[in-house]
Amino acid sequence: MQNFNYHVPTKILFGKDKVADTAKEIKAHGSRVLLTYGGGSVKRIGLYDQVVKQLKENDLFFVELPGIQPNPRVTSVRDGVKLCRENNIDFILAIGGGSVIDASKAIAAAVNYEGDAWDFPMQKARVENPLPLGTVLTLAATGSEMNGNAVITNEETQEKRGMGSPLLVPKFSVLDPTYTFSVNQYHTAAGTVDIMSHIFENYFAPGEGTFVQDTIAESILKTCIKYGPIALEEPENYEARANLLWAGSLALNGLTLTGKKTGDWATHGIEHEVSAIYDLTHGAGLAIIHPVWMQYVLNEETAPKFAQMARNVWKVEEPDDRKAAEKGINAVRAFFNSLGMPATLSEAQIPGDHFDEMGKKACIFGKIGSFRRLDAEDVVAILKRAL
Ligand code: NZQ
Ligand code: ZN
Repeated sequence: MQNFNYHVPTKILFGKDKVADTAKEIKAHGSRVLLTYGGGSVKRIGLYDQVVKQLKENDLFFVELPGIQPNPRVTSVRDGVKLCRENNIDFILAIGGGSVIDASKAIAAAVNYEGDAWDFPMQKARVENPLPLGTVLTLAATGSEMNGNAVITNEETQEKRGMGSPLLVPKFSVLDPTYTFSVNQYHTAAGTVDIMSHIFENYFAPGEGTFVQDTIAESILKTCIKYGPIALEEPENYEARANLLWAGSLALNGLTLTGKKTGDWATHGIEHEVSAIYDLTHGAGLAIIHPVWMQYVLNEETAPKFAQMARNVWKVEEPDDRKAAEKGINAVRAFFNSLGMPATLSEAQIPGDHFDEMGKKACIFGKIGSFRRLDAEDVVAILKRAL
């Protein structure tokens, strides 16, 4: 296990009605709020009214940025930056899923920066002096509520790129499982896949002696396998929604990466190229690509780790590592399909005519992945197998 620092300063307010403390938490950081949200789900579930009531009762000035889309666009980010500057905003409250939170982080980063907001995802600028932000999360998936990352899409260039800084970690996040009752089957399934995929990205990565991290990772996978199907069948099952919600935060708040130099993240890189062009739901893209990636990188060297997952998570009883690994990968694929996720790009109506471009763009900053290094040709080969 390698040396590490671990510091996640997000205060988590977990449970039913915890949203009642939102204004109190905001006041610790600011008084002029940009309230960001998506296409309307927060209004339908009553969250918007709750939050607005609190802001008014606590004399907190606020302006709104509605309409942030899934796969959030840099155009929304620019609109948000303008609103912040015009209104002297000193705090951002994001209410919604990962897309709303990610756009809010990108706004927070760009408000006190002279250049364009797209400079951050393009690695042309470092985040310095961002606005503080808090979140009320409504969908179990990305972990954005407890990390410093954001993923932004530029429609003009058809690019989807990540940015990140410890300075963008939310000050607080409210996680009330009842707000996730209304998430439909498709997004519940996609969110469950995303959580599992985050675990895979850090689990299938170089590093020795991380038994405790691996065991936590395996528990989070088991949590998704147990509660994902229950949440699909019984959307208002509090226990299932609560476990998925907390699993989502734990899967990507740095915990399972501690003691390792780096995760793999090739699958996410490849998926982002697909959703950049086709606006596919992130978790659906991962459901297609992650099992294909697993099969692609499987060799003598990587087989023992896949076999470990197969035995510890999928109860595979097979002494041979290579055979156990194959069974584990098949189990992942079958589980994603059982959630109703597509198994191939064709099933998601995605043709193969942009694969070369995707391969190049995925490797724009060099080879990707750490479990096995991949170049643009590998990415194209994976996409072809996923077709
Ligand atoms: O726009 P609204 O009306 O709010 O509807 C959303 C949206 O259509 C809906 N929804 C959210 N909460 C709901 C709800 N519908 C009913 N009831 C609720 N309680 O769900 C749809 C999807 O929302 P979105 O925010 O896009 O989903 P998710 O949380 O999965 O976020 C996906 C985005 O996060 C990025 C992805 O690439 C994608 O752009 N990621 C961010 C990461 C991070 N910041 O760490 C890591 C991830 O790997 C990922 O890349
Ligand atoms: Zn993800």
